[in-house]
Order: sequence, then C-alpha cells, then structure tokens
Amino acid sequence: MELPYRPRRLRRREPLRRLVRETCLHPDDFIYPLFVAPGKKVKDPIASMPGIYRWSVDLVSGEVEAAYNAGVPAILLFGLPEQKDELGSEASKRTGAVQRAIKQIKKAVPEMLIITDVCLCGYTSHGHCGLVREGEVDNDATLELLAQVALSHAEAGADLVAPSDMMDGRVLAIREALDERGFEMTAVMSYAVKYASAFYGPFREAAESAPQFGDRRSYQMDPANIREAFREAALDIEEGADIIMVKPALPYLDVISQLRGEIDQPLAAYQVSGEYSMIKAAATNGWLDESTAMLESLLCIKRAGADMILTYFAKEVASLLRSA
Ligand code: PBG
Repeated sequence: MELPYRPRRLRRREPLRRLVRETCLHPDDFIYPLFVAPGKKVKDPIASMPGIYRWSVDLVSGEVEAAYNAGVPAILLFGLPEQKDELGSEASKRTGAVQRAIKQIKKAVPEMLIITDVCLCGYTSHGHCGLVREGEVDNDATLELLAQVALSHAEAGADLVAPSDMMDGRVLAIREALDERGFEMTAVMSYAVKYASAFYGPFREAAESAPQFGDRRSYQMDPANIREAFREAALDIEEGADIIMVKPALPYLDVISQLRGEIDQPLAAYQVSGEYSMIKAAATNGWLDESTAMLESLLCIKRAGADMILTYFAKEVASLLRSA
C-alpha cells in the first residue's frame, strides 16, 4: 500500500505518543469533595461510594492533609446538620460542622484552598434546596437564606463559595451579601449549569439530602437542553460568578465543550457521585480496570474543555499522577 499518511506512525512508541498528546491531567486540575458531619471521631463509610466517608471536624483535617500531600490544591466541603428543620437553619449556624471544619482545616493545612457548597437540601426536613411554601420551592424567599449560608462560610474563612441550589438570582444575592460585609474578595463558583440528574443518587445517601416529596425538576435543568445552558451561564456571569460549573460531567461533554467556546470565565466540571460509583462498582466486579477507567473519564472531561474537575477520585488520581 502506498499511503501518504499513516496515523499509526505517531502512535508507535510511548515517547512519540507523549510528544503529540494534546491533553494531560495534572494534580492541579482537581478539587476534592468532602462530607463533614457533627460528632467526634466519626469516619463513617458511605455504602454507595466506596472509599468516601463522612468525617467529623476533628478527623477531616487528616484527610485534607493526605489530599494536599498528593498534590490536590482544593477541596469542596459539604455539611451534615445535627438537626434538620423546615428552613434548614443549621446551614448558616456559626458552630455548624462546615463552619468549624473550615477553621480547623485552615489551621491544619493553611495552603489548601477551601470551597464550600452553599445549599439547603442537606439541612431541610423536606430535602429541597430552598424554602417550601404551599408545596413549591419559593425562589425569592430562599435567596436571603442562601446569602446567610454563604456569609457564614466566608466569615469562617472559606476562599470560595459554591451555590448549588439553582434558584434564580442567587449569585447576585450572595455577591451583594458578601460585598456588604467586606468579603468582596471571596469568589463565587457557581453551579450554573446543573441538570436534574439521576447520577446524584449516591450523593443523596451521603448527604442524607433526598427530597421527601417530588423531585428537583422545578429548579434543576432538563437534561434535554443545551441552549438553556448558555442562558444560565450568561445570567450567572452577569450576576458576578467568577467560575462557571457544569454538572454532571461525563454525560454532558457536549455542554462543557460548547460552553468553553462561549465564555471566558474558568470552567469547572463536576464528575458526580453516580459517575464515581459506576466506575467503582464495575471495578469491584472485575468488569473494568479502575485506574484506567478513572484516568480516561477524567482526561475526556478535560479534553472537552474543563479547566478544573471536581471528583471523588481527586486524592487517588493525584497520587497516581505523582507516582507515574
Ligand atoms: C446539593 C448538591 C447535590 C450535589 C452537589 N450539591 C445534590 C443534589 O442536587 O441533589 C450532587 C453531587 C454529587 O452527586 O456528587 N444541592
């Protein structure tokens, strides 16, 4: 055969493959989500997420330090309350698990960047991300509560706050509240493009945050829509979001890729609990090789256009990349 081009020429040897590689993973790409719970000496395994735990404030720093030593630059904190109520009041409590964890981590691992999830679903008795009135989540009444949550995190020392509730106008409400109180340098990472996804299943076990009635489709996005993603991102940017997030990641690579071309802000993608658990479950059964499947899924999310990836694999992948 006389072929002028033989793409296999550049695939023959590893050094050559390395030279022509277009995308690389680095520990700096990752943000490690962690669950903090009330109590002491708690390291509570989450059955549907092998390798992930709920940590009490006294133990969480150890895990943060391990992630930091593996090269992970940032964490995302989720809190569990002592008690849930209709308003999710504990979410903004100064002595809540997240607020205490922030202080503790800042002391123990000062170089670690702390991002906090701002939402109410783990704290409300009904499990919705906002205030419920007459069976519906009341958008505008929720904004003040979210702003209070964000403020309590900023006061405790969070570097970034990440609202995940999907209420309209919450980025602006949070930005204004932060600015008013002198936290104009606290950045907002917005879950701007968050779909109503079945892949959050394991997380809801971890955070005990499943809605007690109905679902989240009146505030999270319809998986069928992509034009709406541009609108959501544009609105959050206008409201002052510093970083835009797409969530979930792997089933939404088209959204990540097209959004990358539309906006100048840094773009984050969240490889959610269900994406993590699928790989873990298949690996446990011997159906997939865990490390290769993990690396491939993360590489593809980056190739699609994500500047950073939130993933439960963060610690694992960073150590793997370091030792490679
Ligand atoms: C809270 C929140 C959720 C996730 C992040 N923040 C759950 C939800 O919206 O039901 C999902 C994270 C994951 O699945 O890993 N609103």
